Formats: sequence, C-alpha cells, structure tokens
Amino acid sequence: MTTTTDMFAAIVGTEHVLTAERLATRDPGYCTAALGASILVRPANSTELSRICEAANSRNIGLVPHGGLTGLVDGTASHPGDVIVSFERMSSILRIDPLQGIAVVEPGVTLGALQQALEPLGLMTGVDIPSRGSCTIGGMVSTNAGGIQVLKYGMMRQNVLGLEVVLANGRVLDLSNELLKNNAGYDLKQVFIGSEGTLGLVTKIVLKIWPVPGGTCCALLACDSPEILPSLFNSARKNFGADLMSFEAMWPEYFHLTTSQPGFGRPPLPMGRGIYVIIELAGTSQAEAQARLVAFLEAGFEKGAVADAVVAQSGSERHKIWRSREDSDAIDNVSDTSLSYDIGLKLVDLPNFAARLRQRCAARSADLVPYVFGHVGDGNLHVMFAIRKSDAAQREVYDGLIYDTLSEFSASTISAEHGIGIEKRAVLARSLAPDTLATLVDMKKALDPCNTLNPGKVIVAGERNPSSGTSSGTQEQ
Ligand code: LAC
Ligand code: ZN
Repeated sequence: MTTTTDMFAAIVGTEHVLTAERLATRDPGYCTAALGASILVRPANSTELSRICEAANSRNIGLVPHGGLTGLVDGTASHPGDVIVSFERMSSILRIDPLQGIAVVEPGVTLGALQQALEPLGLMTGVDIPSRGSCTIGGMVSTNAGGIQVLKYGMMRQNVLGLEVVLANGRVLDLSNELLKNNAGYDLKQVFIGSEGTLGLVTKIVLKIWPVPGGTCCALLACDSPEILPSLFNSARKNFGADLMSFEAMWPEYFHLTTSQPGFGRPPLPMGRGIYVIIELAGTSQAEAQARLVAFLEAGFEKGAVADAVVAQSGSERHKIWRSREDSDAIDNVSDTSLSYDIGLKLVDLPNFAARLRQRCAARSADLVPYVFGHVGDGNLHVMFAIRKSDAAQREVYDGLIYDTLSEFSASTISAEHGIGIEKRAVLARSLAPDTLATLVDMKKALDPCNTLNPGKVIVAGERNPSSGTSSGTQEQ
C-alpha cells in the first residue's frame, strides 16, 4: 500500500518530502505549533501543487501552507496527520514590467528580495512591513498585509492586480490580470486575498509596483498627551495630502521598551513625554520633503502641539527612528513570552481606547503594562503584553481586558491587519453577526467542501483536527 509520504514523493520527488525528523530541525517562526504536522512537502510549481491538493482532498488530509512564518495569529499551526505545504522552492521573481507598473512573482519570494530587485530600477512595493526580511509575498497576500505605508499605498488588497490560485480540488484558477482596470465579472481574486490559505493556495501574484518618491523625510515627534493624535494627524493629512506616507505612534512604555534595549544606543528623543509619533513624507526631493516637514513641525511647536522633535538627517538616523517603532521583538527582553493584539478603531477613539485599557490593566494589577503602538493614521493599534510562559493559559484575562475595552466604542475591529488564524477565531465568531458568519462558512464549504485547506483557521467549517477544537457546523469555541 502506498504511504502518504510515497504518494507525495511521487509528485514532488523524495528530497522534497520532509518527515518529522527533519521538520524538528526547522525554525517554527512566531507560531510554536507550526511544525506539528508529520510531513512537509515542497512543490516546484502549480502543477505539482494541484496534484498535492487533489491527493490530499481525496484522502482527507489537511494542507497547511507555510510562507515566511512571521504571522502573529497561529495561522501556520499544524497537527499530526496534516501536511505542510512550503513555498520555499517557488521563490522566483518572474517578471518586472516598469511601464505596466507590475511585478509578477511566485509566492515564496520574500518582500525583502523583491524590494532589493526593485530598488535599482527606482521602483518599490506599496506595502512594507517590519518583517520584510522573511515574510513572503504569498503570505502577505493570504493575510492581506498592511504595514507602515497603508496611508499612501493601501493594503495588499489594493496592490494585487492578479493571482493564480490552486483550489482544494486541484483546479488551477488563472486570475492573473495585469490591467489596472478590469471589471469583467466578479473580482474573484479578492476572495483569496486575506483568506489565510483557507479557500485556495496562491501560486503566482501580479503585484502593483510604484516609483520611489524623488525623496523622503522622516521625523520623530514627542507630544505631551496622546489626546493630540487625531488633530495632529488631521493637520498632517491636510498639509501633506497624498505625500503623507506614514503616521505611526508609540505610547511611552513601548518607546522605552524598544529604545532601552542593549545595543540600541542613545534614544532619538528623551523619555518623559506622553506620546511619540513618526511622520514620513514623500517629496520631489529629500530637501523639499524635509523643508515641508520642518515647517510643519515649527507650526506645531508654536501651537504647543509638538513638544520635541528630531528630523532624520541621514539613512542611519532614519533607520534608528524606525527601529524604535518596528522592533516589537524587544518585548522578548522583558518576558518569557508575549501576547499581541491588533485592533482597529475610529481615529477619534484611539487615545481613549489606550487610556481606558491602561486604567483597566492598572485596576487588575499595578504592574500590568500594556505596550501600545501602531499605525495611527490607519486607525490601527497593536497592544502587547509581556507575560510569563506559566501565565499563557490566562489568555482569556488579557483578551477580556482588550475586547471589553474595545466593546465600549461604536466602530471597531478585532483585527485590523494581522488576521484571525486560530488565535482570534473565537473572538471573530463572537464579533460577527450570525448571518455574516454563516455566509463565511458557506463560502468555505463551497470552495473547500472537504476542509482540506488550512483547516481550523479563521472559521470552523467541518471536522479536521479535533485537537484544534473544531466541531462540525457549530461556531461555539
Ligand atoms: C507592526 C506589526 C506588529 O506593525 O504589525 O510592527
Ligand atoms: Zn502592524
């Protein structure tokens, strides 16, 4: 009788089927349960992946897609009996077409590799995220990644023109549109963007690419209170219009966390202020962007909105400012482990949310600190808690602090950009209207009736991995 390993080896070759022993030597990334599967397969192209899907679908085997493993919601978790599909052999940049403004890439290309290939051509990707060194374009499509330039360029959903997708039954959908405008029929590709590998597996991406601005300039500002954020953002937006690339904020505990770690050197601004903001601006030249940013800061000083500021004068100064914002892994210096949240609110509510969350935390325990930071211009905050491994079971307590606070605001989301995975599945089920949730389940059942693709992620839509708490047809979790 053919074993599962033999069956997949016949498709991809023996050297591209890794069994438990070799899996154990690999890095699971941010999801400790990523490598729980018994087998990992490495297809070379969509034809092989199509055969893998067909085989898995007919044998009731779950397929768990893996990209750069930088997801933050356990979307890559796998269980014994599952098969991991790694896209590491599908990592070619197929074509860059500057006139059409597209790059055609395989899913395993890292964002950093694509950025490097585009740079000499004076081009760049619209989406940029801190994990650029290892995250893959396929993973970014499947999670609809956002990041630090959403204000100007949008999320992945606004940057993907076309896709090739393999369905659970092995059918290969050619949705590889290269045109900016194409209204011919339903925009099927959007169903797969952000679906976290639960509806189809992406094998080719047509991505919009953008000219690098003539120059950019970045500044770190300190203000007395987070309450200034909505009006400060509004005046930045009015002043800079489409040239505003980033408007990010760090509450003081987070700024202290990242800038006080060993090796950081002198923080770009002293501690002691109520909020730290990064503004990055595009212009016709660096000098022009800098002059506009300095004029904005001077007006801010005069009005008393800005208390302190530093403008990056070099690439390394810019890098240091951004490091203070992007290095959320610094939380590992103060804890065994951490919990991470990714909420969205109306701009006007952001300061209040953070203030009420802090009050809730303080009421629970004097030393419970929420580290708050994020993409203020997008209405998106991240909150991290540094916890002991032994407290990980108390996730519900932390969930309660975040989501009870969130529920006090009229418009909000439990995930602005990180997605759902397993981690936020129960809270998604609670936060969606029943008809909406039922429609999501219908979509999953229509495209993946045997629950082959990334089973147990985003929603529960059938039996696959009892250990992940799935139960047929119910959303009680
Ligand atoms: C960031 C990741 C956590 O914005 O989304 O740094
Ligand atoms: Zn983020």
